[in-house]
Amino acid sequence: MCGIVGYVGNNNAQKVIVSGLHRLEYRGYDSAGLSLWNPDTGELDTVKTSGKIGELESCLEHELPPGTTRPIGIGHTRWATHGAPNQVNAHPHLSQTGDFSIVHNGIIENYSALKSRLLANGFSFTSDTDSEVLAHLIEQCYDGDLTRAVTAALEQIEGTYGICVISKLHPDKIIAARQGSPIAVGICHNETVIASDISAIVQHTDRVVFLNDGDILTATADDTEILSHKNVPIAREATLIDWDIGQIEKGGFDHFMLKEIHEQPSAIANATRGRLLLKEGTAKLDGMKMTSREISRVDRILIVACGTSLYAAMIGKYLFEDYADIPTEVQQAAEFRYRNPIIEPNTCVLAISQSGETADTLAAVREAMRKGAEVLSICNVVGSTIARETGRGVYLHAGPEIGVASTKAISCQITILTMMALIFGRTHRLSMQKGREIVDYLSQLPKLAQKVLDQETAIQAVADKYASYENAFFIGRGYMYPAALEGALKLKEISYIHAEGYHAAELKHGPIALLNGDVPLIGLALNIPGRNKTCSNLQEARARNTPVIAIATEGHRDIEKHCDDIIQIPECPEFLAPICVIIAEQLLSYYIAKLRGCEIDQPRNLAKSVTVE
Ligand code: G6P
Repeated sequence: MCGIVGYVGNNNAQKVIVSGLHRLEYRGYDSAGLSLWNPDTGELDTVKTSGKIGELESCLEHELPPGTTRPIGIGHTRWATHGAPNQVNAHPHLSQTGDFSIVHNGIIENYSALKSRLLANGFSFTSDTDSEVLAHLIEQCYDGDLTRAVTAALEQIEGTYGICVISKLHPDKIIAARQGSPIAVGICHNETVIASDISAIVQHTDRVVFLNDGDILTATADDTEILSHKNVPIAREATLIDWDIGQIEKGGFDHFMLKEIHEQPSAIANATRGRLLLKEGTAKLDGMKMTSREISRVDRILIVACGTSLYAAMIGKYLFEDYADIPTEVQQAAEFRYRNPIIEPNTCVLAISQSGETADTLAAVREAMRKGAEVLSICNVVGSTIARETGRGVYLHAGPEIGVASTKAISCQITILTMMALIFGRTHRLSMQKGREIVDYLSQLPKLAQKVLDQETAIQAVADKYASYENAFFIGRGYMYPAALEGALKLKEISYIHAEGYHAAELKHGPIALLNGDVPLIGLALNIPGRNKTCSNLQEARARNTPVIAIATEGHRDIEKHCDDIIQIPECPEFLAPICVIIAEQLLSYYIAKLRGCEIDQPRNLAKSVTVE
């Protein structure tokens, strides 16, 4: 949550930071600001505003007229935790004298105690944020050495942070530090770009160094030095990032979300490329770094995740149990971390996270590792904290996902889970013949996904008809149950329609009380096990005047008598049905949100990556 950009070099820092903040806007977008050192006055020019980066740009036009090139600065786009999203609470925050400016992601848990102490020492506060204490602490600790002052201030802090600091007294350097909130450093020629997320860096360089918790970075235009929290210099390897800049542009689509929905056939093809072994009827995921012997010993899988990744995990449970015969449990990551979970010697813990930065999932990973578990991860963002800390895992290779609502990430997560289930299955009881069938289907998945996308116009017509309703229910059974939960999540996230997903059998245990002509029901009634029972549920709903949309297998016309509208999905095996259905749900949600005039790529109150609890 929140985005940070810092720049020092020969170019115009303002331009680099504003363009970087645009790239990070998907992480938080309720207020924004920047501080730049002005070589003409020797002062820090700071401009802040509530609202999005576009509003910051308008303010900059008035407040910082062009003419002076400012070579160093820091910027921030905020997702409010402490204090309302207004101009005063926006970052950067200045110290009492205005000599120091900081941007901060994370939460300073002991900020009240620190604030009282600073107030008693004569410091005054202008904002309601926890972050402002850090600016004052740095000033209080300053003895002529900026890095030392930041280190001393951070020693007093409890909580999480990713920070950048500049000072007019040292207009050639940025200090950055990390504890629980990511900071990446772009290694460029004669300039250094620092950001909380590589999407603000990839237009400058493909070589990135990720800070670890406890690292403190001192960066100038042509040098970077990292110290550990014990003040020992550390060498950190640069990671090569193979994103191309086109991947973080909208490429002619109205929204990133629509672009990413349409990228699914190619994203799935990338996720499976070189990983399917038809002859052996299995897959290879080298990142798992597990021998067949180690895999064969696994007798329980425990998956931890949040949000949409949690629904991918639920589908993973069906896959592991059906194809690998391994009992699998899914736990919301926050539940896992606080519940003192039972981990037996042969339990394999699997963390799923698109961003690889979700605070609860990361904490769950650390807790599982502390308990001695084998921990694997499935992440999309290369070099992300969860990917690095688990050390064993599989990347989606889906390319950057910018829209806040997860789309191509979930379909690739399920694809990877299917391959993992196949690998586990083949080292347990799954036959070569069955394995080959699965591999064959997986290789056809990009085409299947494209067939769903080909239904776009028909789905748009359904969206037109239902966009004005304020409530909706999604129901499904078996593999369709998590798909129903995800359908409801997607719809509520981006259209603000109150939507709930239920197991179809649960309808009668309460939700049916709410059904009437104003609450459409989306029934996942594909031609897979459970269909007939779900069709009965659709009938029960229709008997209460509820408008029913069926997501159904194409060619099965008898569904018409159970519903008002149909969204058709190509014939596919049960284990691939969730991906097809989820793509249809994404299109339905997208077009409904568009008709309702919603901010699709940046829905209110949400953030792409939830890096605070
Ligand atoms: C946020 C995002 C969701 C995402 C969830 C988990 O809530 O808005 O789209 O599913 O975080 O994120 P992760 O990166 O761990 O998959």
